[in-house]
Amino acid sequence: MSVIVLESVTKRYESGAETVVALDAVDFHADRGEMVSIIGPSGSGKSTMLNMIGLLDTPTSGTVRIDDRVVSDFSEADLTEERRSGIGFVFQDFHLLPMLTAVENVELPSMWDTSVDRRDRAVDLLRRVGLGDRLTHTPDELSGGQRQRVAIARALINEPDIVLADEPTGNLDRDTGATILDELTRFTDEEDVAVVSVTHDEQLVEYADRVVELIDGVIQG
Ligand SMILES: Nc1ncnc2c1ncn2[C@@H]1O[C@H](COP(=O)(O)OP(=O)(O)OP(=O)(O)O)[C@@H](O)[C@H]1O
Ligand SMILES: [Mg+2]
Repeated sequence: MSVIVLESVTKRYESGAETVVALDAVDFHADRGEMVSIIGPSGSGKSTMLNMIGLLDTPTSGTVRIDDRVVSDFSEADLTEERRSGIGFVFQDFHLLPMLTAVENVELPSMWDTSVDRRDRAVDLLRRVGLGDRLTHTPDELSGGQRQRVAIARALINEPDIVLADEPTGNLDRDTGATILDELTRFTDEEDVAVVSVTHDEQLVEYADRVVELIDGVIQG
């Protein structure tokens, strides 16, 4: 079953007399265990679409469903809870907190939850990305690829259904990018999450199970 569905989602931005149609009747879905890449030229609506999937923005018209629930029916509290527990985010520039260690950065999104042993899961995730010997390093003591692996572990700490990645390999060289993509691919299976990434990176497209192309807010094909 799809964990996220967009049905005829349109997003218009009005600025003065001008209207920009950033997304035009977009249909999209992502399922557990698949990696989907969204590609398209600058300004084609990729970030706007990722923001819809991440429940960070609302459509002008159309429907967004999460696990078959209509998102426009959610209260603000439901939205916050869904973003926190259902969705993990990975960014091009890592977004780690510089004063925290690797393991503290990974634990951070689970701070609220006292019911689980979050330290154990954080350590387990860091070991699984090959950073078992870097647990107490701060981001400035890690390489770019290691930082992104910390960010991937952090995205998975709350056992999300969806991981969203905006240019996850954008600041990495090709070889380092490949190791990050290997990790993302492995977790797509091991954690049974839907990974949706936005990219200019041909390499990332090679790893994707499915590629969706946007041009001027319209899905191609
Ligand atoms: N807050 C906003 N107000 C007005 N227009 C906006 C706003 N956000 C985005 N847009 C417009 O919507 C269109 C899609 O923007 P979006 O950021 O989704 O593109 P993108 O595909 O992510 O581009 P890039 O590859 O450069 O990141 C663009 O024409 C952009 O100028
Ligand atoms: Mg963008």
